[in-house]
Formats: sequence, structure tokens, C-alpha cells
Amino acid sequence: MALTLFTKSKKAIIERCHDDYATKMRLKYKPYYHAMEAQQGTKIRLNGKDMIMLSSNDYLGLSFHPKVIEACAAAARIWGTSTTGARISNGSRAYHLALEEKLAAFLGREACHISVAGYVSCCSAVAAFAQKGDLILADKNIHSCLWDGIRLSMAAVERFSHNNPEDLRQVLKGVPHNTPKMLVMEGVYSMEGHICRLPELAEIADDAGCFTVLDDAHGFGVLGKQGRGTVDHFKLNDKVDIYCGSMSKSLASTGGFVTGTKELIEYLRTNSKQTLFSAALSPSQAATASASLDIMQSEPQHLERLWRNTRKYREMLKGLGLDTWESETPAVPIVLGSKELVYRFWQALLDKGVFTVMSIAPAVPPGKDLIRTAVSALHSDEDLEKIHAAMSYAVKRL
Ligand SMILES: Cc1ncc(COP(=O)(O)O)c(C=O)c1O
Repeated sequence: MALTLFTKSKKAIIERCHDDYATKMRLKYKPYYHAMEAQQGTKIRLNGKDMIMLSSNDYLGLSFHPKVIEACAAAARIWGTSTTGARISNGSRAYHLALEEKLAAFLGREACHISVAGYVSCCSAVAAFAQKGDLILADKNIHSCLWDGIRLSMAAVERFSHNNPEDLRQVLKGVPHNTPKMLVMEGVYSMEGHICRLPELAEIADDAGCFTVLDDAHGFGVLGKQGRGTVDHFKLNDKVDIYCGSMSKSLASTGGFVTGTKELIEYLRTNSKQTLFSAALSPSQAATASASLDIMQSEPQHLERLWRNTRKYREMLKGLGLDTWESETPAVPIVLGSKELVYRFWQALLDKGVFTVMSIAPAVPPGKDLIRTAVSALHSDEDLEKIHAAMSYAVKRL
């Protein structure tokens, strides 16, 4: 009897996977999980065809920089391939501390903690500091890793309209002053390309006594002096308690970071499950991020080129009458409004040798189904011309 019950409940889960509509559609139309056969900068090969990558987060184009590649290879020769342990036990190395100090100094923060993924770092940046009885105020469009952090914290949550200080003010109206509060936002929203309205949001947070967490995965390397990010862009470093982000975008590596005061970072090291029970960042990934950080400071041409390309690209899309959701950054969506149009546009770009990524509801708000594109400093003028030709073709297919 017991055995039959167990078999039945196990079967329910297997049947759920078997019947999953989203998986069936994904396998039928194959829009995701494309495995490229080769890559060299912005050039990729997919299904034997040469293409231009137009959806990578390699904003500064450092993933093929010779100094970065050399640092990555050298670290493996010196330290081996992996730490095979968590920082708290056997996984800490001198290179972790060196990178943390370098990042903290660059960002003008007292302390930093790095981990194996931006997802882990940003999730822990919320989950470590909020707890049951607190209230988290979250921008509706924040990344999944921040929602996971919110859920894990067990705090109550109130959402406010995307990047809307007035709505945050309204939401805060009914909240008792003595409730511990946390404001969670992104510096640059990865799908929309919007820059956070930090001056207004930080002022409201200040008035209400909110602890502030800002995930700048897409602003770090892109905004501010030498790419110091959104907080530096607005010169509001003292208004953000926790500044976190990813090393898999402008730093051309993998991994993530959380920065704040020494006290906050040591609290995180004691209390964050994601920090305590996950193996430390590998030598090569840390060395890659460290070399990229040096280049961000010594070679300003990459940031300049990124913004030059961004301006050119945005003008191109505007000229074609495309809706870019008022993106202000190198992350540029092309909003088409329905999954059918998105699929047709994406396929037309692919036919013309330009690789992009589709994002459809519920990943984006209803009616905002879009193609996510991102410009890199590595795109050449010739790349941009080819992209223009492909976009013109795709517009005619709509
Ligand atoms: C806003 C934001 N935070 C965190 C992450 C996670 O970073 P990673 O991919 O390095 O784990 C992403 C990744 O896309 C992101 O867009």
C-alpha cells in the first residue's frame, strides 16, 4: 500500500515534466539553448553558418583581449583549476582577497565578497540582510536572482511600478515607520536598458529609513567614471548600502560580487547560506576579472567605443521605426508586442546572419514581447552595417 502511494506521487512529478507545455514548445521551435560551434569576438558560427553576435553581455569586449586571456591561462598554471571548497573552509586563496580589495577600492567601498556567480552574489545580497518581519520594497522588473533572494529571506514584499518613485512613495504610505525596510532595485535593467532613477528613489529610501540594495550587473563597466557603475554615475555612493553585481558581463569572466561596509560584508560571510555553502571562485575566473578591471582603468578606448557603437545602433533602430522601450544603455530591446511577431523578426535576423535572443511574456510584461539585443565595444563598423541590412530585412518581414 505504502509502496503504491510512493509510486503514485513520484509519477505525478514525472508526468508534470512529460506534459510541460513550455518545454514542448521550446523543443518544437528551438528558440533557445543554441550551441555555437565557434566564436571569435563578435563572430560566431551556428549550424555551420557565420554570424554576428548581437545579444552578448560582453559590453567592453574584453573576453578576447590578449592580456585577459593570458591572465586566465596563467592563473590555472599557478593555482590549478579549482579551489574545490567553500571560502569558509578550504577554498579561500590569496587571489580572492586581492580581487576583493581591488574591486572595493575601485568602487570606493570598504569591503567586497566575491562568489561563483552573479546570481549567487545578488541573491545573497538580499537574502543575507532581510529576514522575517522586515518589509522589502521591490521594483516590479527586478531580476529573478533578486526575487529568489526575497523569497529566501522570508520577509514580506511589496512591489512598486517599474522605476517609478511616485508609486514607491504611495506604497510606503501605509507602512509603520518602525518596520525594518529594504529597497531592492537594479542600476541598469537588463531587458529594458533603463537606468534606475536613483536620485529620487534614494531620497525616498532615506526619508523612510530603508536599507538599500542595488544590483548593477548591467551598469558596472558601462556607466560612471571608467565604468564604476550607476551609483558613481549619479555620485550617490553613500546612498546605497549594498552594491552588488556580476563578473560575467563587462568583466568578461563569471562570478559575482557584493560590496558594502566591512561590518555588512562580515555579517554576510557569517550568515549567508549561498556564501557559506558554495565552492569558491576558480583561479582562472578570478584572474580574468582582475585583468579586465585593470584594463577598464588603463584602456579607456573600450568604454568610449561601446558608447559610440550604442549611439550608432540606437539611431539605426530609430531610423527603421523600431520601438526600443526608451533604452538609454547598450542593452537595447526591440519591442514587438506579441510572440508571433518576435519569432518572425528573430528568425529573419537569423536568416541574415545576426544572432539575438527572444524574450516573451511572462519573462517580460504582457504586450512587451521583445528581441533582446546588446551592443559591444567589439562590434566593428562593418558589423554594424551588416546588422543594419539584417534589421531592414526583418522589418519588411513583420
Ligand atoms: C540584473 C542581473 N543580476 C544578476 C544576474 C546574474 O548574473 P550571472 O549571469 O553572472 O550569474 C544577471 C544576469 O543576467 C542580471 O541581469
